[in-house]
Amino acid sequence: MKLVKKSAALLCLFLSPLQGAGEEKSVTFSKDIAPIIFENCTTCHRPGQIGPFALTDYKTVKRRAKQIVEVTEDRTMPPWHADPGDVKFSNNRSLSPEQIKLLSDWVTAGRPEGDPAETPPLPEFHEKWQIGEPDQIATMTERFTVRAEGSDIYRNFVIPMNLEEDRWVEAIEFLPGAPEIVHHILYFLDTSGKARKYDAEDKKPGFSMSKSNAGFSYIGGWDVGTQPTELPHGLRFLIPKGADLVVQIHYHPNGREMTDQSSVGFHYSDKPTARPWSIIQVPPHFGQMQGIEIKAGDKEHIEEASFILPEDCEAFAVNAHAHYLAKRMELTATLPNGKAIRLLRTTRWDFRWQEDYSFEKPVKLPAGTRLDMLISYDNSASNPNNPTSPPKNVKWGPQTTDEMGSITLAAMFETKEQKEATHNALRFFLANQFIDRIWERRADVGNGNGNGNGNRKGQLQIAVGMLKALDKDNDSMLSPEERKTAIALIQGMGFLKRFGAIGFE
Ligand code: HEC
Repeated sequence: MKLVKKSAALLCLFLSPLQGAGEEKSVTFSKDIAPIIFENCTTCHRPGQIGPFALTDYKTVKRRAKQIVEVTEDRTMPPWHADPGDVKFSNNRSLSPEQIKLLSDWVTAGRPEGDPAETPPLPEFHEKWQIGEPDQIATMTERFTVRAEGSDIYRNFVIPMNLEEDRWVEAIEFLPGAPEIVHHILYFLDTSGKARKYDAEDKKPGFSMSKSNAGFSYIGGWDVGTQPTELPHGLRFLIPKGADLVVQIHYHPNGREMTDQSSVGFHYSDKPTARPWSIIQVPPHFGQMQGIEIKAGDKEHIEEASFILPEDCEAFAVNAHAHYLAKRMELTATLPNGKAIRLLRTTRWDFRWQEDYSFEKPVKLPAGTRLDMLISYDNSASNPNNPTSPPKNVKWGPQTTDEMGSITLAAMFETKEQKEATHNALRFFLANQFIDRIWERRADVGNGNGNGNGNRKGQLQIAVGMLKALDKDNDSMLSPEERKTAIALIQGMGFLKRFGAIGFE
């Protein structure tokens, strides 16, 4: 006991500000601190941007100095939620231990300014497009008003692209109309005309989340503070002629009524994509068929899913998605030779920061690699992010008070066939999950307890009847052979059509 106390005291002495005061004297704002702040903080912390105050000169930084040391030491700033692991990320925003120490040394030294002539100029921030004027700018056709207070708003806006031929896109940049309230967005393409119809039927600009986005193809997203998406490795994605852009925006009211009219800039390329590529989501479709059910009060609810890659690919980025209850999210690849690579681990999932993590170098994943994803959720009252008080039972759903969960890899292939085979394996995976969910409900249907509206109930009855008929040996289990037949039937009946957004088609 005594020993512990003694060593703690020693440690205090070692860390005391008096120690090494000689070296710290030389830490000044102009020479040491301004470069760190201007490089890593000012993009967001300047007027009109998402940061709640400006960090643009000696005065503004000096005023916040103590708080800056706190938030950099506990790594809440700059926002970056991936734990250090097996792969390096090219867009890593976090500060190095040396930078964090310099900030604290500066405060200890009394926040000296140094020679103002030495202060570097502020970086040249592009007030509009960061990667240059786009070839095409798609702007929301009407302004949308966001009330001052209240819960977050999700809304879909349809923007006709009016393309007369197919175009390959090499970069896409989102320009929020009102950066103070635009939190994150997802982009989709619609070639069916359905989105236009929804828009026309809805009195306000755009259309609500109650309409399904099934059949739209998902092409990516943007969140607060992310860099524009410039596809790496010569990759491109295709916008078919006649397609409409659907932008789904998440607004976060900030105390003042504001209107937004955001734009999306497209950079086209004359060259097609260098390689086929796609996204691999585990479990697919944001976990819709995962059977997520989190009991009220459950402090650590774990969801896991594993997917085996049927073909070789090279992963180049990873992204995680869940709502407020998630805490820890992990994706690990176990190669056929047994080597495990942790592709993403976050122990501090924060719904407000939906980051894309780009790999410095692509990670080769041979056929037979197993992807294991794990998400833990905290649905207790002690989770400060829990949106419901007192906690309620939570299932999969699109509202932020529902839950979701999956981790998505972006990966490139050598051939189109490899990409197709990977999509098919994902569809098979989803169909299998779908069968599990129906099979779980067979007792309900037998008792006439199947909930939902008449139509849904009828569909469930048919599906359960079909599976029961397939269970030839009547052992209440589907053998692998029986499952295969069931999946073929389910695919044949178009049951999976509503899961459109599996990958880039
Ligand atoms: C990607 C945008 C972004 C970057 C980069 C960024 N910040 Fe922030 N910062 C924010 C936002 C947004 C908030 C408001 C709180 C929140 O949403 O987490 C914030 C809040 C803060 C706060 C207040 C924290 C609190 O508890 O109220 C401090 C201090 C801060 N930032 C300092 C910094 C410093 C220092 C850096 C650079 C080392 C930095 N930030 C980089 C966006 C950013």
